[in-house]
Amino acid sequence: MKAPLLVNPGHPLAEGFEPSSLSPALPGSDILLESECAAALTALVRAVGGEGKIIPVSGYRPHAEQLALWEETLRAQGEEFTRKYVAIPGCSEHETGLAIDLALDTGGKIDFIRPYFPHDGVCGEFRAKAAEYGFIERYPAGKERITRISAEPWHFRYVGREHAVRIAAGNLTLEEYAEIISGGSHEQTQP
Ligand code: DAL
Ligand code: ZN
Repeated sequence: MKAPLLVNPGHPLAEGFEPSSLSPALPGSDILLESECAAALTALVRAVGGEGKIIPVSGYRPHAEQLALWEETLRAQGEEFTRKYVAIPGCSEHETGLAIDLALDTGGKIDFIRPYFPHDGVCGEFRAKAAEYGFIERYPAGKERITRISAEPWHFRYVGREHAVRIAAGNLTLEEYAEIISGGSHEQTQP
């Protein structure tokens, strides 16, 4: 089994990295994800009856978009906030097409940087089934020193079912998991 791609400030993406194939995050959505990830998300949302309730907010972001988001957030919110919630350009999972930010549709305005995705209701059901469909909650509360990103209960990363089930069972971050499975020679391949 290939190791999941680890993307963080210590593991930036290769310059010019692009996902091999992109598809709508959910049917009809103009937000894109890597195709296998999009199919898994669609199946997961269907499995919890989340159609029309769980809204994709941000998926694949080309490098230029991550850079613009970083700069705009710096200007609007300052450095401390930006470093907490926006990955350094070149080091964002969103540039891989393997990460999705989700919101519960409440009928209100959706916060692009920090969307509302609670732990109960349909979002709770989504979380409970996420690993089975290959997703992990990538930035859990209490692990900020490891991920170097604040808790983001809305950001899910596709790693494939086998990895996701192990990561969830071990209550691990992707950083911890990559270290465990590397055996000193961590091979970075998708998903
Ligand atoms: N919000 C996450 C950390 C990102 O910008 O990739
Ligand atoms: Zn995100």
